[in-house]
Amino acid sequence: MTTLMTSSPSFIVAIDGPAASGKGTLARRLAATLGFAHLDTGALYRAVGLSLLRAGHAPEDGAAAIAAARGLDAATVLPLMNDPALRQDVVAVAASKVSVVPEVRAALLDFQRDFANHPPGGAPGTVSRGAVLDGRDVGTVVCPQAPAKLFVTADVEVRARRRLSELRNTGAEAIYDAVLEDMKVRDARDSQRAVAPLKPAVDAFLLDTSMMDADQAFIAAMDFIRSRPAFPDFL
Ligand code: DC
Repeated sequence: MTTLMTSSPSFIVAIDGPAASGKGTLARRLAATLGFAHLDTGALYRAVGLSLLRAGHAPEDGAAAIAAARGLDAATVLPLMNDPALRQDVVAVAASKVSVVPEVRAALLDFQRDFANHPPGGAPGTVSRGAVLDGRDVGTVVCPQAPAKLFVTADVEVRARRRLSELRNTGAEAIYDAVLEDMKVRDARDSQRAVAPLKPAVDAFLLDTSMMDADQAFIAAMDFIRSRPAFPDFL
């Protein structure tokens, strides 16, 4: 990761989109290529959901969700981010449920903005020249000033098939119809909630990956990012 000791403004790449659209893979690859720090903002909501489940609370328990979100700080979040349990579907559903609570969203906002504006570098005390954040509301709410915003999507059937093969690759038994139904329910909850619903920012580059592989999506995204007027000349 490229690191600097300066305070030059961070170049922020904001990537939003529904589950299994390919945004996570794309965000990691862009960050690695550009030498930027990467934050999977969904992992923060998953961390809240996981804390709740581990403490024996229902994911619908708004008060417990608010307490869990307020209890997360850099010291507790970062180890949780690598916890394999975060990737379980039950945790994804819990994350989607806690994310409708406005106080939960508010509690996670500062962490995300701080990461975007002061992205950590490879060594302690250093910062990266930019950050790639992916989630549902990065371009609309967390970093509306980001110079490069992308909205990555794909047909729900394509996303369900991708998720099915991911699950089967981990050895889990999964049925296409059930995965498709779960995806539709999660899409509806994420897009229809009152606060910060999933939607493209007005100036987002729309990238439909239904007919693309990961390499094609990466090339299209890089072309867009490079075309932005604020794209740093050192890259
Ligand atoms: O991207 P993901 O599947 O890991 O996200 C899990 C849930 O977290 C998602 O269903 C909605 C919520 N989320 C959110 O509300 N806002 C974000 N920026 C990221 C995720």
